[in-house]
Amino acid sequence: MDKEFFFDKQAKDPIERVGGRAKVTGAALYTADQQFQNLAYGFLVGSTVAKGRIKSIDTKAAERAPGVLAVITHQNAPKIPGYQTGRDPAKPPTAGQPLRIFYNEEIFYYDQPIALVIADTYERVLHAAKLVKAQYEKGVFQTELGSNLAKAKIPTGPRFEDYKRGEVDGYKNAPVKVEQEYYHPIEVHNPMELGNTLAHWESDQKLMVYTKTQGVEATRKSISDAFKLPPENITVHAEQIGGAFGMGLRTWPYEIAAVMGAQKVGRPLKLVLHREQMFTNVGYRPATQQKIGIGATPDGKLVGITHEAYANTSSYEEFTEATVNLTQFLYACPNVTTRYRLVPLNMCTPIWMRGPGEATGSFALESAMDELAFALNLDPIELRNRNHADVDPEKNQPWSSKYLTECFQMGAEKIGWKNRKLQPRTAQEGDWLVGYGMGTGAFGAMRWAATVKARLQPDGSLLLQCSVNDMGPGTATMMTAVATEAMGLTPAKVRIQMGSTGLPPGPTQGGSNVTATVGAAVNDVCTALKEQIATLLSKEGSRFHTANVHGVKVDDLLFAEGAVSLKQNPAIKMTYTELLQQNGLSVLEQTRESKGQQQQYSMYSFSVHFVKLRVHKPTGRIKIDHVVSCADAGTIVSPTTAASQMIGGAVGGIGMAMMEDLVIDHRFGRPINNNLADYHVPVNADIPNVDVVFVGKKDPYINQMGSKGLGEIALIGMAPAIANAVFNATGKRIRTLPITPDKLM
Ligand code: MOS
Repeated sequence: MDKEFFFDKQAKDPIERVGGRAKVTGAALYTADQQFQNLAYGFLVGSTVAKGRIKSIDTKAAERAPGVLAVITHQNAPKIPGYQTGRDPAKPPTAGQPLRIFYNEEIFYYDQPIALVIADTYERVLHAAKLVKAQYEKGVFQTELGSNLAKAKIPTGPRFEDYKRGEVDGYKNAPVKVEQEYYHPIEVHNPMELGNTLAHWESDQKLMVYTKTQGVEATRKSISDAFKLPPENITVHAEQIGGAFGMGLRTWPYEIAAVMGAQKVGRPLKLVLHREQMFTNVGYRPATQQKIGIGATPDGKLVGITHEAYANTSSYEEFTEATVNLTQFLYACPNVTTRYRLVPLNMCTPIWMRGPGEATGSFALESAMDELAFALNLDPIELRNRNHADVDPEKNQPWSSKYLTECFQMGAEKIGWKNRKLQPRTAQEGDWLVGYGMGTGAFGAMRWAATVKARLQPDGSLLLQCSVNDMGPGTATMMTAVATEAMGLTPAKVRIQMGSTGLPPGPTQGGSNVTATVGAAVNDVCTALKEQIATLLSKEGSRFHTANVHGVKVDDLLFAEGAVSLKQNPAIKMTYTELLQQNGLSVLEQTRESKGQQQQYSMYSFSVHFVKLRVHKPTGRIKIDHVVSCADAGTIVSPTTAASQMIGGAVGGIGMAMMEDLVIDHRFGRPINNNLADYHVPVNADIPNVDVVFVGKKDPYINQMGSKGLGEIALIGMAPAIANAVFNATGKRIRTLPITPDKLM
């Protein structure tokens, strides 16, 4: 099903967003909306120093405050069995010792939880939390990346050794070269829904948890490890998630604290982070300082690229991401060197944030490509075309599919690239300088394992079950789209149960894997149902059998309009309801586990983002006129939700390029703009018309549907597209994000 298309916002998608109405009308119940009898409320008190030891902590006033049930600190915290083993239960993304909450007096970062206050109402717990006072022995802390580069080290493990292809730093021998440094600050996820957990011990061996996670199975594993409970005694619910962008990819200390607190007071406990705590306690996109050296021949053939990145991590864990990895495969280039280093700072450990390392890496690489194109007096698309990687140059194997050239063509057409001037600062309209820019993105096309159960029911409806959850992209909509197509049902006839453990296990929602993974499992389980139907129809006496005496195969059948019929003789037809009745069945049920196979192909999704913008000469204000985001993500199963993902990624990229910046006061090691008034993100007035174009060509290898992921490529490449357009408009190359008006004056 190859469907190249421009997403038309006016056209009606046959599948409305599943659960969309419940979300926008307030009917959907998120974790913090859950009500339990006898509910207690928890609130975390944070350290006021960025490093040191707690000398003393006074909880007496808090304990005496009205309605207070308990105050937990490192002095009286129940022992977490998993903390005694030396490994933390909350799975670390990489090496190090994850933070053990209330474990001892040691402070690693500002606002690290030092106490959990529990009371009978939210108002009372907020009041009591203010009464907890601590004294510290202050340590010397570091919170700035740039002044600590000397402490940088190679992350633990072979994956992070320096990469070399061809000659080390071979770009230096090129006749035309660019050497530049690029920087971007810390960004925070801060989805609308705050981090929150509701923990309820149903007995001393049985636990139910509602929490903000992108993977209920992973959360269950973490809690099981921490509290040494068998996983089957724990139920994790995350049916509704109000955005996450990656912050739900690990189990955070606050979640462990909620479970601990509920155990302590013997009541269900709800712990909702305060917005300020979302800036300090649940990860962020680490700052990076990157250096690119890139060289080419005068006719624009790349000779070499060297990409070095310094990123910050915490002082207790090594958080890593693929910051330099794009450079290893994006272009056909004989000499490539990459180096990746971590700098420990006194902050919470970072966590993947949408398009993780690739988004930051692409800012450096794709800005440098634009600088090289300018040095060569070449159109930036032409430079990329001259260095198109026909096979994966890193693994030296073919791509499973790659339609990047199509993305360039379709996007250039849509944005009006032909109007772009090769020389910067030459297009002017009144006080405004006009510019065009583009940037490329790529991200591994993941396919993991998922199990889906499908039940075809007496009313002809189909129930699909999987524990995968949805932080926003529209997982249920995607599953519905695959099932309606496979089974010939209307969307109203498909029902999805998802988002909690106890259902057939699905993957964590991360790394843009869910459509390729769960979509494939839905497709496979529907195929199994169809095979079962064909077997039933092959029975002696069936009208289908009489017409097809050699046996009825799935290929002989047409599944449409809630019925099955013979392709060759459509008059021989039976609704699913009749099929069940005539076979004396109450349901038809199949369960399939589905996973990708190791293949000799490099699997990636690709994107190209185009921007047309204008810069106001007197004030440096940037106004984006038009964005065109093009994606090669294989078959698009659900156009509306896919386009919505692309638009969301473009918005995230605009925020990254122009606004987002967690400002830290390094004298105290704490953020200054820890609220959504001062930490700027784009609002509707900042967002232009975003057009989405899908190549829509099937990937022959990833799965039956041919679908690759697109959550990450939606953002990767957007920030450099803006920086490149700003250069084209003004002649000013901004290498430090965000591009604020002062930098253009
Ligand atoms: Mo994404 S950063 O894998 O949630």
